[in-house]
Order: sequence, then C-alpha cells, then structure tokens
Amino acid sequence: MTTITDALRRLPKVELHCHVEGTMRPSTVVELATRNGIALPTDDPTQLYRYTSLDTFLDIFWLVQSVLGDGDDWARLAYESVIDGAEHGLAYRETFFTPARHLDAGQRLGDIVAGLAEGLVAAEDATGVRVMLIADIDRAYGPGPGRELVEQLVELRRSGAPGTDRVLGVGMDSTELGVDPTDFASAFDLAGRSGLRRTSHQGEVTPPDTIRAGIDVLGCERIDHGLSLLDDAELTKRFADERIPLTVCPNSNIRIANAFPRLEEHPYPQMRDAGLLATLNTDDPAMTDLDLTYEYHSVMEAFDYTWDDMVAIALEGVEGSWLDPDDARALKERITAEGDRLRPVVDVEG
Ligand code: ADE
Ligand code: ZN
Repeated sequence: MTTITDALRRLPKVELHCHVEGTMRPSTVVELATRNGIALPTDDPTQLYRYTSLDTFLDIFWLVQSVLGDGDDWARLAYESVIDGAEHGLAYRETFFTPARHLDAGQRLGDIVAGLAEGLVAAEDATGVRVMLIADIDRAYGPGPGRELVEQLVELRRSGAPGTDRVLGVGMDSTELGVDPTDFASAFDLAGRSGLRRTSHQGEVTPPDTIRAGIDVLGCERIDHGLSLLDDAELTKRFADERIPLTVCPNSNIRIANAFPRLEEHPYPQMRDAGLLATLNTDDPAMTDLDLTYEYHSVMEAFDYTWDDMVAIALEGVEGSWLDPDDARALKERITAEGDRLRPVVDVEG
C-alpha cells in the first residue's frame, strides 16, 4: 500500500450515502441465501454482480436484499458493515436501509430496526465507529407503501421501540425512471411533521427538475446523488448559496448508473468549483468492489487534488451530516488533527 493510500485510509471519514444492504459481504450473501432458501443464479458472488444500468443493478440489489430473513440477519449485516467500514477509516455513517420488500414478505419493521440496532451497538463497541439509520422508501413499491412505512416508523418511535432512536430520518431510493417524486409528498410530509429528517435519491439518472421536487415538494434537507444538478444553473446556485448537501458517489455513478466511461469525466470537480457541498460516498461498496479508501484515493488522483483538498472533503461530510452541533464540532476537530498529523507522511511521498 502506498503512503498516500495508507494516509487516506487512516483519515477519519464520514459517509452519508451508503445502503447497508449494499455492504453485504459476498460470503454472507451466499451463506444467508443458502440458510433462507433463496436461489441465487450462481454461488460465485463475483458472477452475481453484473449489471449495465441502474435498473439492472437494482435487480441484483433486490435479490441481495431478499436473503435477509429475520432480525438476526439484519444484526449480522449491520455488524459486518461497520467492521468493514472501520478498516477504511470510517468515523461516522448515516446509513440507509430499505425494508419495503421485507415488509411485503411479512417481516415486521420493529424487528428489522431492532436487529440493525443490535448489530450497530456491537460494532460500535468493537470499533468506536458511530452509525445512525435512515429508513428509505422504495420508489418501486409506490406511494401507498411509502406512506405506510413512515406511519409505522412514527408509531414505533412514539412507543419507544428498541432501536428506533437510531433512525434519524427517512429517504427514498430505487428506480427513478417513470416515477414522479411528488407522488410521495404525503409520506415525506408526515415524516417532516413527526420530527424525522428528510433526504432522497434524485437526479441519479433523471433531469434536475426531480432534484427541485426533492427539496421544494418533499421538503428534503439534502439530496442523494444529484448528479444532474449542474444542468440547471439557477438551481445549482440555490444549492450553493444555501449549502444544501449533495451525497455524491462518483465511482458508483461510473459502475452503477453507467453515467460516464471514466472517473475523470465525472463532474465532481465542477460541483465543488460551483460552491456545492458535495460530500463523497460509496453507495453500495460490497456490490461494486469499492471502499472509502478507494473512493478518496481515486478521486484525489483523477482530479489532482491535494491532501488538504481531501481533508476539506472529509470535513464537508461532517457539515452535510445530521450530527448535533457538539458532536459535529468534535468530529471536525478530530479530522483536522488527523489531517495535520498525516500531512508530513503524505508530503514525503507527494
Ligand atoms: N439502491 C441501492 N443503490 C441505489 C442507487 N445507486 N440508486 C438508487 N437506489 C439504490
Ligand atoms: Zn444510493
């Protein structure tokens, strides 16, 4: 491992766009599928992860989700996800889970959240990494199940059900094509009125008007991906002026959305130059052969960023997060101190 790679691995990092199901180790996919009687097209996971677009990726993502049979499986997934993230300097993550498929199959939201929380507590004890949850609506299931998910979540939180204090907010993911985000206004409205934070995948493969709907109709405080934002100069200026965070996933946009042939063509530097709060994230690391160290290192190389640029990007992750002000300040101090401590190491190589 080169010195710069190692320094980037050690730099404490925040992740705001990571699907817990997309962190599932290939060996765990195979093991849970066998135990829960889910047929996989192959038992070689490297052969499983073949896709050419967001929608063909989602077919595989949904298959991987379907191997999660009960609360213990969710606990294991959450635990392994944090252990693996810690290897790459993860300090804090707000992670998505998308339970529509499991609720449809008869699992209970309370069991899913309790299982996830159990795994997170054990992993936090083992690593010191802190992780909170975002309950994502699956757009493919439509607005009715989306609203029901929020209703159930609000009720579980009201009754103090185990693990629900870890759920900071709601989001929305899955297919974008042919779906009008404003159909989900009722679910997001209830979430907002109930004190839940709001975010949504928008503009991954659709034009910027879906991003505008995300903030103006759904009331989102940040937008996941937002890849098409630069196509609308006025909206871009608004995001920059108001520091509305984007959770950008450059390598995912190459590998999943197939939006550009090479990382060098990704508009990440143009986003930053436009003054956008463009945080850096992996999306579905285990399904795309990514990790946070690679995400940071490949971006640094592709766009000729300096060490200080990379530390600034890590700090912007804190700015875009939903940490309370004291915790955010403490994490910023930690990142800054580690950035200073590691700079000479990098300078030797650089
Ligand atoms: N679910 C998991 N990864 C996703 C992505 N990149 N876009 C939409 N939904 C997802
Ligand atoms: Zn995503």
